[in-house]
Amino acid sequence: MRLTFPYQTDRLGAIRIYGVQHVFELDSDPAEPESVFGTTVSHVPTPAMIAVQRRMGVVVPCRNERLRILDGVLTGIPHATQLIFVSNSDREPVDRFMMECDTIERFCRYSRRSAVIVHQRDPGLGKAFAAAGFPHLLDEDGLVKHGKGEGMIVGIVLALLAGKDYVGFVDADNFVPGSVNEYVRVFAADFHLAKTRFAMVRICWKSKPKVVDGALFFSRWGRTSETTNRLLNLLLAGYTGFGTDSIATGNAGEHALTMELALRLRLAGGFAIEPFQFIDLFERFGGVAKATAPQEHPDLMKEGVQVFQVETANPHFHEDRGSDHLEGMVAASLGALYHSPAANAQVRSAIEELVGSTPALPEPPYPPLSGLDVTAFQSVLLEHAPTFSQVVFPEGSETLPIAG
Ligand code: GDD
Ligand code: MG
Repeated sequence: MRLTFPYQTDRLGAIRIYGVQHVFELDSDPAEPESVFGTTVSHVPTPAMIAVQRRMGVVVPCRNERLRILDGVLTGIPHATQLIFVSNSDREPVDRFMMECDTIERFCRYSRRSAVIVHQRDPGLGKAFAAAGFPHLLDEDGLVKHGKGEGMIVGIVLALLAGKDYVGFVDADNFVPGSVNEYVRVFAADFHLAKTRFAMVRICWKSKPKVVDGALFFSRWGRTSETTNRLLNLLLAGYTGFGTDSIATGNAGEHALTMELALRLRLAGGFAIEPFQFIDLFERFGGVAKATAPQEHPDLMKEGVQVFQVETANPHFHEDRGSDHLEGMVAASLGALYHSPAANAQVRSAIEELVGSTPALPEPPYPPLSGLDVTAFQSVLLEHAPTFSQVVFPEGSETLPIAG
């Protein structure tokens, strides 16, 4: 893969946010030696990307998506990665989760690969979090709360148990298998280029096709992303003193983290999870807010956090869910931004202007997963969660580290 060199850099405390990289060539010359930073284009050879993919879990959060579309998403996930499926789909009156399990089982059988599966609302999964000293994720019935962010947190823990060093996320409602493939290859390419153990790769797309007046329109930005990015950039500019448009991935559902970083971030629930990653970085490692905690993370502060942003060649084409859903997403990210100790007066007044009032206080984020007792989690999960399964093909060929 060939990617443009991320030239522009915004720095805030330990954080480096790189300007958007472009995918220049999906499949580059395999005979060409690697060329990294120093030219205008970085060339990452396929074997280097595959080496990273072998150390990566790809989490697919899914709630009641169409099976044909899910099937396409699976097709796009590179073989070397570990597939992790976290479902919050209905189990009644029709058991959609069972249908998803069948789809994944069939996919793994024919592609000779493995998958880790769990249902987010499995009481045994809730028990495992409680036993691991992480009850924050649970509702009053002791089940993991509903929400995409909550499903992703479950996915991070499963990737950790599977011994992975990287964890990436791709939505289950993507119509284009080739774009899923590109996202995961991009994650691997930038992790290969990363110079620290604390890195993040976030995707933005060249276009998001929509049908407008009966014709296909290739829009540049979603409305939600436009608003979130503008406000995050305003916040950044308030500290650096220079106006910037470097943040282009505030809402990036498709993104990946090194496990070292994933375990140290505080993660938000629902659709606030992606913008909140920036907020948490600013608050705790940007050296700007009262809530900073650099003394707890001297290694991170020294090595720094690298945030890569990449514009993919494929369009992002997914299910359209209408505007109610979008408004909820905007409200979640604006609330978190407004009430963050890292927010400055400029950002707060821009938000007030936008919504016409003070946004509601958001749910507090979850504490970092580094506090989770992994051994206790694993033993309770294996014993008490009937929806947890590992699909392994060829059968008996390999036992995942997750099996202990
Ligand atoms: N496990 C789980 N649990 N998955 C869920 C849940 C849940 O409670 N809710 C939604 N999902 C899954 C969906 O099935 C889909 O695969 C993915 O999470 C994203 O949900 P969508 O409902 O498709 O969200 P969206 O398309 O509006 O927004 C996406 O793109 C935004 C950026 O444009 C999401 O990825 C957002 O997080 C992202 O900010
Ligand atoms: Mg979607």
